[in-house]
Amino acid sequence: MTKLVYLTDSYKKTLVSKISTITKQGNQWEVILPETIFYPQGGGQPSDRGEIVGKHGKLIVTHVRMRDQDVVHEGKLNGHLKTGETVTAHIDWTSRFDHMRWHSAGHVLHEIIIQTVPGLTPAKGEHGKHAFIEYRGDINPKLKETLEKQTNMLIAEGRPIHTEMVSLEDLKKRVSWVPEHLPKNKPLRILQISGFAPTPDGGTQVKNTSEIGQIFVSEIEQLGETVRVHYHVSDLTKAPIQPAIKPSAAPTNQITLDAFRSLLLEMQNQLLELVSKTASTQLEQLKVNYFGSHGIATQLIKQLKDLPQLDRKTAGILVNEFKSSVDQAFTQQLNNATTKEVWFDVSLPGILPPEGHLHIVTQAIIEITRIFERIGFSRVRHPEVDWDYYAFESLNMPPDHPARDEWETFFIDHKFPSPLKGEGQGEVHKGKIVLTPHTSNGQVREMEKGKLPIRMINIAKCYRRQSDVSHVPMFHQFEGLFVDKNASIGDLKGVMDYFFKQYYGPDRKSRLRPFHFQFTEPSFEVDINCGVCLGKAHLPDGQGCKLCKDGWLELGGAGMVHPNVLKAGKIDPDKYNGFAFGWGVERVAMMKSGTQLDDIRLLYSNDLRFLEQF
Ligand code: PHE
Repeated sequence: MTKLVYLTDSYKKTLVSKISTITKQGNQWEVILPETIFYPQGGGQPSDRGEIVGKHGKLIVTHVRMRDQDVVHEGKLNGHLKTGETVTAHIDWTSRFDHMRWHSAGHVLHEIIIQTVPGLTPAKGEHGKHAFIEYRGDINPKLKETLEKQTNMLIAEGRPIHTEMVSLEDLKKRVSWVPEHLPKNKPLRILQISGFAPTPDGGTQVKNTSEIGQIFVSEIEQLGETVRVHYHVSDLTKAPIQPAIKPSAAPTNQITLDAFRSLLLEMQNQLLELVSKTASTQLEQLKVNYFGSHGIATQLIKQLKDLPQLDRKTAGILVNEFKSSVDQAFTQQLNNATTKEVWFDVSLPGILPPEGHLHIVTQAIIEITRIFERIGFSRVRHPEVDWDYYAFESLNMPPDHPARDEWETFFIDHKFPSPLKGEGQGEVHKGKIVLTPHTSNGQVREMEKGKLPIRMINIAKCYRRQSDVSHVPMFHQFEGLFVDKNASIGDLKGVMDYFFKQYYGPDRKSRLRPFHFQFTEPSFEVDINCGVCLGKAHLPDGQGCKLCKDGWLELGGAGMVHPNVLKAGKIDPDKYNGFAFGWGVERVAMMKSGTQLDDIRLLYSNDLRFLEQF
């Protein structure tokens, strides 16, 4: 088991030790020492490089890794080394120091990120040349600059970074987030950036954030449920970055009033900017970081005593000014906070709420109603669950009459107390209860109102036990009823033609076919030339499509009201007569050219992709 010296002293660049084992694996050599300063690859940090030098040779260490409890130094052997030999290990300090800076930078950035964006769960990190930190959650990419700036400010504050070896128990007690996979073969350590909570860490770290240099947040990359914040750290060999504020550990006893003033001003500017970008929930923490007993503002103010006696009064005034302007900023930010959080960008386009519209069938009902209203018909409503009497018996279809077979009717299996009290008139028990198979139940109900003449349009749901391309078990009909003196088939035809012209335009064809209904005499069925195959070269008129079969689609029935029906409605058939028609709303709507609907069931499949087209 190799002792990991770098865990407690990451600045140790050389170490004298004795080789425990040396073996050859292919053309690589492997050396194990009882203790090492080399960092073995892991935890997102690349391994160290360097040399292990003996009396008659050296190992050029190119890669270092953990094998069980041992650190294996791999590389090329120049000369020879032997087990038990005393050797000196040197690490390549330039690359190691880079790794330390990258790694510590990641931790500082992490603190800023979790302070700025609530609700993130850390996932993993990579601290080599393609460094990133990954979280589960979302980060607004617009925060890139803010995060970079705040991290650099924190780095520049020169905060001490402490590490401490801990037991697993201790670790669990002291950190708020324990990674899922803790290394089993390494001792545990926690890291703490002064002013922040401790986190588990086994890498090599700088002692003070000011050693990191400058950080650049290059990209915030959202990858589904996780988000990566990519970063890199300035190249120290090119442009060493001076921290904006000197670390508080800097020698203080020869400070001048001017230097003190400019340090105060610099901190004031930074702090004012930081406050204005800090979420209300984090303000208290920020205050502690600056003004707590170890806070960096406190440290700076303490330097007052190192000023020449004569300058202390002036400096005291400066300090008070500094404190009051910062205090003001904190209060203001707290007041603003409810309406304006740092990340809230009012110029972003809003999210459009999805806009709905009326269902194609509802649109048709409205249009049909308007058309009939223009020629004096009024829309009325009659029950959709009704007595058998209104649906059949009053329409000249006594119980057991074979004409009822035309409608595959749903009956409601319910016994009502008899007689049933209706509103006012004391409605009585009138047979079974049905889900109305057609809107003709409204005919006698309308007549019973006792007002003549009648021009009604009753639009309601109908139910039949049928389902195929041209039938759905629940559909709508509109029932026209006209009762007056001297009504004729010509009037029926006139109303019908008017409606078709209004609804479909001048060019569509309709026809009346003789038919039989118990409640009209004579009776017809009404067809329209099919709007789905109309004008389609491969479906010439008269041949039909899958919906109509022969170029014509039946819309419903019509006819002159049967005298028995008028009688049931207490109207004298010798004085009055009339016509009626009942057509399906869905079919009428489907026949509008352009809808191209060749399966009625689509209307009720509740598929938004379909519905949105109308
Ligand atoms: N109620 C008939 C049906 O549903 C249609 C119709 C209504 C026929 C009015 C004549 C008069 O088939």
